[in-house]
Amino acid sequence: MSFTIVEQCPARLNRSELAVPGSSTKFLEKAPQSGADVIFLDLEDAVAPDDKEQARKNVIEALNDFDWGGKTLSVRINGLDTHYMYRDVVDVVEQAGDKIDLIMIPKAGTAADIYAVDMLITQIEIAKGYKKRIGLEMIIETALGMQNVHEIAAASPRNESLHFGVADYAASTKARTTSIGGPHPEYHVLTDADEAGKREVHWGDVWHYAIARMVVAARANGLRPLDGPFGDIKDPEGYKAQAMRAAVLGCEGKWAIHPSQVDLANQLYSPSDAEVNKATRILEAMEQAQKEGKGAVTLDGRLIDIASIKQAQVMIKKAEEIAARRAG
Ligand code: GLV
Ligand code: MG
Repeated sequence: MSFTIVEQCPARLNRSELAVPGSSTKFLEKAPQSGADVIFLDLEDAVAPDDKEQARKNVIEALNDFDWGGKTLSVRINGLDTHYMYRDVVDVVEQAGDKIDLIMIPKAGTAADIYAVDMLITQIEIAKGYKKRIGLEMIIETALGMQNVHEIAAASPRNESLHFGVADYAASTKARTTSIGGPHPEYHVLTDADEAGKREVHWGDVWHYAIARMVVAARANGLRPLDGPFGDIKDPEGYKAQAMRAAVLGCEGKWAIHPSQVDLANQLYSPSDAEVNKATRILEAMEQAQKEGKGAVTLDGRLIDIASIKQAQVMIKKAEEIAARRAG
């Protein structure tokens, strides 16, 4: 272990994060019934410019008037390059700051962006005498943000999570796609020809580098990495595949841009019984190994060692958090 200890952000279940447009009173009214671990009320890209002010009012009203039943709540403010952003922070935090857990900063580009929002929130929190500290979630969705992702992740003690915003990221990097996430048929390799001269097309994951880079920045700073949206709401299998490959890389959850995606994310980001059983057996086997003075043993024909204990503990801790949520 390094002499530098990574402080972990407050523990929260974040398997799913439901996006709810602030301009839609219909969707806002339904949101408290959602099974999402985190709900973000959106003032940014799901809201047309003419609706920005009304959306802000709707969101403040919904935060204050609805019974959210202890849900983790976030508000996505507008980008720091817009004239909506300062009023988003001032109005939402002044008028409903005790109701929210998180503020989501879109298109985070540099550590100074986080500093600026932190400064505003800090002043309002002190002026209003709020006791609960508001956390920050940053969307990494521009080339600049990805270049500076490590500094962004370390920019404030309020930081809790990094999110991969695939749609804006594609636009910013000028990637040749117009869909929101998912694979691209042109991002493939051809296998060498077999004896019959046949070659296979193997699709790759266009977003692998971006997600893996963001996961490292998040985990090195004790934050949660999350995979962002998947636009094809009629394709649950595609959603599941995207969610699972991000989970394998270390993401802790995925956005739901439609209520039907919430259960899929909750299910995929909960360890399965088989995974929990395996983790339990690893811990048992390693406990026995340590009693016998061994650092490594084989289990089911595979080597496990002290690092396996840590991996297994991550799995068990997650299962316990989920069980606690169900019990509560
Ligand atoms: C999310 O905001 C995205 O751009 O994908
Ligand atoms: Mg975006």
